[in-house]
Amino acid sequence: MSDTPTVPQQGVSAQAPQAAPAARIRPAAAEDLAAIRNIYNHYVRTSTVTFDEEETDLAVWEHKLDLLGATGLPFLVAEDAEGIVLGFAYAQHWRAKSAYRFSAENTIYLSPDAAGRGRGKALLEALLDASAKAGLHELIAVIEPTAAAASIALHRRYGFVDAGHLKGVGVKFGRTLDVLFLQRSL
Ligand SMILES: CC(C)(COP(=O)(O)OP(=O)(O)OC[C@H]1O[C@@H](n2cnc3c(N)ncnc32)[C@H](O)[C@@H]1OP(=O)(O)O)[C@@H](O)C(=O)NCCC(=O)NCCS
Repeated sequence: MSDTPTVPQQGVSAQAPQAAPAARIRPAAAEDLAAIRNIYNHYVRTSTVTFDEEETDLAVWEHKLDLLGATGLPFLVAEDAEGIVLGFAYAQHWRAKSAYRFSAENTIYLSPDAAGRGRGKALLEALLDASAKAGLHELIAVIEPTAAAASIALHRRYGFVDAGHLKGVGVKFGRTLDVLFLQRSL
């Protein structure tokens, strides 16, 4: 597989199902960061899928792009045929201590309009492939169980298994929140 996993454009064949999503998956670049920030901030404002409570600014994403680039870890975007960013996914070292160097936490977000049509599967599949190529051994997804049914289903479908349940570790919108750990070996 190539270093820039690509989901073939659908609709080129008369037999292709009309509902199939068109998305190209490629490494994130600086010009994608404003769109990435906007997608992420939607969930900061509206959901407990992220435990951030304040909207992120561009500098956060510039730093992440630099960090992932420097550590050789994948940061991918899915874009539509017009080049609109539909979502993003990355794998970032789980902990800074060096013995954790083969383990990463994976993150995936689609814009609300793009979710629920198979694009999460395409993006996670590409991230798994890129993470293995980057030399990672283990991926860990950290998921708030009440808000992220789609994320739990997606990760389980790709072989992530339950690895822990922390109770009451977050508070957002006045609610006390748990997190699930799901883990997959690469
Ligand atoms: C999580 C997310 C990336 C999944 O991507 P998606 O494109 O919506 O999901 P897909 O259409 O690829 O479906 C993936 C699987 O989840 C299932 N699924 C999708 N939405 C679901 C829902 N609301 N409840 C239960 N299962 C759901 C699908 O049926 C599919 O499983 P299947 O192939 O076995 O049928 C996307 O919904 C999203 O960005 N959500 C908001 C942000 C978020 O929660 N990020 C993760 C933080 S931990």
